[in-house]
Amino acid sequence: MPSIAVIGAQWGDEGKGKITDYEAGKADMVVRYQGGSNAGHTIKVGEEVFALHILPSGIVRKGVVNVIGNGVIVDLISLDREIADLESRGHSVEGLKISDRANIILNWHRLLDGAEERLRGKKGVGTTGKGIGPCYSDKIARSGIRMGDLLDRELLEERLDTVMPMKLKTMEMLEVRLAQNHDELLSELLAYGKKYSKIITDTSVLVNDALDSGKNVLFEGAQGTMLDIDHGTYPFVTSSNCVAGAICTGAGVGPKRVDEIMGVLKAYTTRVGAGPFPTELNDDTGKMLLTVGGEYGTTTGRARRCGWLDLLVVEHAARLNGLTQFAVTKLDVMNDMKKIKVAVAYDVDGKRLEHFPGNFKMLERAVPVYEEMDGWKGWKADETMEVVRGGYEALPKEMRQYISYIEKRSKVPVRIISIGKGREETIRR
Ligand code: IMP
Repeated sequence: MPSIAVIGAQWGDEGKGKITDYEAGKADMVVRYQGGSNAGHTIKVGEEVFALHILPSGIVRKGVVNVIGNGVIVDLISLDREIADLESRGHSVEGLKISDRANIILNWHRLLDGAEERLRGKKGVGTTGKGIGPCYSDKIARSGIRMGDLLDRELLEERLDTVMPMKLKTMEMLEVRLAQNHDELLSELLAYGKKYSKIITDTSVLVNDALDSGKNVLFEGAQGTMLDIDHGTYPFVTSSNCVAGAICTGAGVGPKRVDEIMGVLKAYTTRVGAGPFPTELNDDTGKMLLTVGGEYGTTTGRARRCGWLDLLVVEHAARLNGLTQFAVTKLDVMNDMKKIKVAVAYDVDGKRLEHFPGNFKMLERAVPVYEEMDGWKGWKADETMEVVRGGYEALPKEMRQYISYIEKRSKVPVRIISIGKGREETIRR
């Protein structure tokens, strides 16, 4: 290590949970720094499957300190539920710390998320409905409630007195009703404060101390580069910065503190929710990727849209994050495909584009220019570990050519190859 970031290189769901868990084997600390419970990180250890939304993916490793940084927005209901689920399965969440500066998702954020989506009608973003956009909006508008506020009755009362009348007015306008009154909300939040008082702390100090003492720290990204509020397919994006730059603001560390930046790249492309997706496949190949890849959202259960790998997206992610390596996931899903296509440019109104444009209308008209290559012959599901033991050189020749092609075009080396859901079904180069 000593410090590494794991970042989604596409529209989320690239397999960051699995790769973070794999890398967490070497980590002393795993830090989430943006997003909220809109994330869905799936980890498979042996026969046990964990679907995490708000907890960092290091939580299933013993002895790892797991940090929810100030840039995350905390859904207390999700947090409670996930902790209870892990504890009921015999896993401890000891070592979990939450930033006193992290904003909290309140019921009005969930209600407003739904109301805003309804008003957008057909032009909706297709949000996860978790209240992410309204919560980040309140944070920026200085109307948020933070984890540390839950520890100080006087402060919390003052904040609720200031913020709640504004939120009630907005809710009235959008015709949604909050079930709680001021006092009920106050006592609920104070109860959460009491419950989590030992884990709410200044996590920037914690993370910097760990880095200073040479500990291995892993920064776990949520969502993906193409969902970034600035650099993604705006307005069909989430409300946080998902690129590596967000580590500094969302974890409270300086820009020189991250040594390696790993992009997690699915061997094909998926996206869930609305918005442009030039290489989307509305045919049998798309259906095959959906079915074989099990492409259903961990958070909402929605079917993901599937398509070919897009090198404009890959280049965008490599540049914006300053990627130093890739982990390529789900190569096994493409086993036994005769031909594989990769988009190398877009044709927009007769013009060739080689960089991902910011204009979503242009993206809707973009026709991908593809290069085609040979697919590879797969193996039986129960042979995966045998393939892993054979190492990189034992992978099918055409699969290695596909990996080399990604490396050549992106100028980023592929260091990890994932060919199954399980922790062990992974090859490190
Ligand atoms: P929000 O983050 O709930 O506001 O949703 C905004 C957009 O981001 C929608 O298209 C969601 O489907 C998408 N999105 C949010 N979180 C994730 C994620 O973790 N994986 C994939 N897509 C996500």
